[in-house]
Amino acid sequence: MSRVLTGIQSSGKPHLGNLLGAILPAIELAEKQSEPAYLFIADLHALTVIRDAETLRENTYAVAATWLAAGLDPEKHVFFRQSDVPEVCELAWYLGCLTPYPMLANAHSFKEKSGHLAEVSAGLFTYPVLMAADILLYQTDLVPVGKDQKQHLEITRDIAGAFNRAYGEVFKLPEGIYREEVMILPGIDGRKMSKSYGNTLDPLGDLNELYKRVKRIVTDAKPLDAPKDPENCTIFKLYSVVAPPEAVENMRERYLSGGYGYGQAKEALYEALVQRFSAEREAYHRWISDKPALEAILQKGAEKARAEAHKTLSRVRQKVGVQGALSSIFS
Ligand code: ADP
Ligand code: TRP
Repeated sequence: MSRVLTGIQSSGKPHLGNLLGAILPAIELAEKQSEPAYLFIADLHALTVIRDAETLRENTYAVAATWLAAGLDPEKHVFFRQSDVPEVCELAWYLGCLTPYPMLANAHSFKEKSGHLAEVSAGLFTYPVLMAADILLYQTDLVPVGKDQKQHLEITRDIAGAFNRAYGEVFKLPEGIYREEVMILPGIDGRKMSKSYGNTLDPLGDLNELYKRVKRIVTDAKPLDAPKDPENCTIFKLYSVVAPPEAVENMRERYLSGGYGYGQAKEALYEALVQRFSAEREAYHRWISDKPALEAILQKGAEKARAEAHKTLSRVRQKVGVQGALSSIFS
């Protein structure tokens, strides 16, 4: 029996890369286990980049609606918002006191993110400690994440090991599950599709907007008649992950034989996105227009998560010495 846990930051509205690269594979892994998975929206982590309350709330609902539209069953799994379980912040403090400063200072993700910023916050610096707390609080076995998160998982294991050595065994050492087979999808400008580059496609959102963005995909300047290279084309790469296999083969042949223009390929990609996600789009719109229903689901999830969080946290408190040694006698 393995407990799966993963989180998605609500630093923006989810996009095609998040859906195919993180949300759908996590649901698939969760469904294979006999015990409930812990799936959450990392809104506290998103605070390292978002300074506007309304934006954070809206993004959090958008991420929640996306998980549900993608098929997450909130009755079967524990689906919650990170900030609704404040215990995670307390655990992060205890873990932070055992985390060597150089381990955080040398983390790739911190160096990469802080390199672009005029002001670097302590929150960004301690980001991996909060992530370790997310994972360790629920005695997680498996953490499905993108390869970019590998070092954060190693840091989590190091911190758990340091705690267990210092105080005795409390934490399970989690294992990262890295999706080697999932392609890093390119965005409309050809770079990695990412919220931070503004190059995303949102197949669950407004279709006019989706059409406009598909039309803006950057290609080379080959004329219609010329044969084209499918492997180096953003339109083809995206088409190959959303269209049925025969349709993909068909497009590949058209690219190679020439007489097929990028404009036509874009139309085909748009149609494939509309088709592939039509059920999810409808479900997304239903959820996002019913915030009270979303809120009720998140609250119920938080209750379940907090019950589990308390079990770990009370052991941790005892171990570190912030709870009187006699408290168990009085409780
Ligand atoms: P962003 O780069 O848009 O801020 P995140 O870093 O919040 O996205 O992504 C959350 C998860 O979504 C990542 O760990 C990764 O697994 C997945 N993901 C993000 N972008 C892509 C992409 N372009 N292709 C495939 N998966 C992606
Ligand atoms: N850092 C992760 C990301 O950017 C999000 C995240 C926060 C997470 N806490 C987590 C992922 C715990 C897995 C487990 O994608």
